[in-house]
Amino acid sequence: MRVDVVSIFPEYLAPLELSLIGRARATGVLDVAVHDLRTWTHDVHRTVDDTPYGGGPGMVMRPEPWGEALDALAPPGAEPPPRLVVPTPVGAPFTQAMAHELAAESRLVFACGRYEGIDQRVLDHAATRMPVTEVSLGDYVLFGGEVAVLVIMEAVTRLLPGVLGNVDSLAEESHAHGLLEAPVYTKPPSWRGHEVPEILRSGDHGRIARWRRDQALLRTAARRPDMLAALAPGELDKKDVAT
Ligand code: ADE
Repeated sequence: MRVDVVSIFPEYLAPLELSLIGRARATGVLDVAVHDLRTWTHDVHRTVDDTPYGGGPGMVMRPEPWGEALDALAPPGAEPPPRLVVPTPVGAPFTQAMAHELAAESRLVFACGRYEGIDQRVLDHAATRMPVTEVSLGDYVLFGGEVAVLVIMEAVTRLLPGVLGNVDSLAEESHAHGLLEAPVYTKPPSWRGHEVPEILRSGDHGRIARWRRDQALLRTAARRPDMLAALAPGELDKKDVAT
């Protein structure tokens, strides 16, 4: 997968060099380039923003540098066109399902907005030649899209083939089946007066699977009733309902 990130603070994206994302880059699964939006300005002050039409507080990112950046990174006629991802508090909520969708793309371009956002015409024009996804991390406002890109890239990279050593962990983890994962334990069996649940040490894999399923249901009901309500019909079986 090839990923281009455009930002006025390219240093913010330095963590993309680290850890598993860094390893994915080193092994060639992922190719990331970070670009300074000001590369595509032409005035001495390298201006990227201006006051909003219609008045109001703050500044809006001007369309011209963004237009040139997208012409360079997603040239008209590129086949297939990359997907443009714009982190913004007005976007669709970022979910594990969306991480899977993005992981299936061969090319992503991230546009990091700052201030009050990017002039809407940049997104409207881009949408005439590539898919555009506006995405929000949650119902709160960040200074800009950079940290959101780090979060999205971490969620996406771990889904790329060959990145995780044990792909079973993807099938088991929270959000894989619309439920939160059950609690996990390791050695020692007793620690500061707290015991590992006996069932997990029983070796009875049928009972362990049932216990994990029950714990996942109880946790989800307590913490995320919205997820439980959204489960597709048929996701709950008779044994689930009896607990
Ligand atoms: N930029 C500013 N706030 C954001 C949010 N909540 N999610 C994604 N990008 C953002």
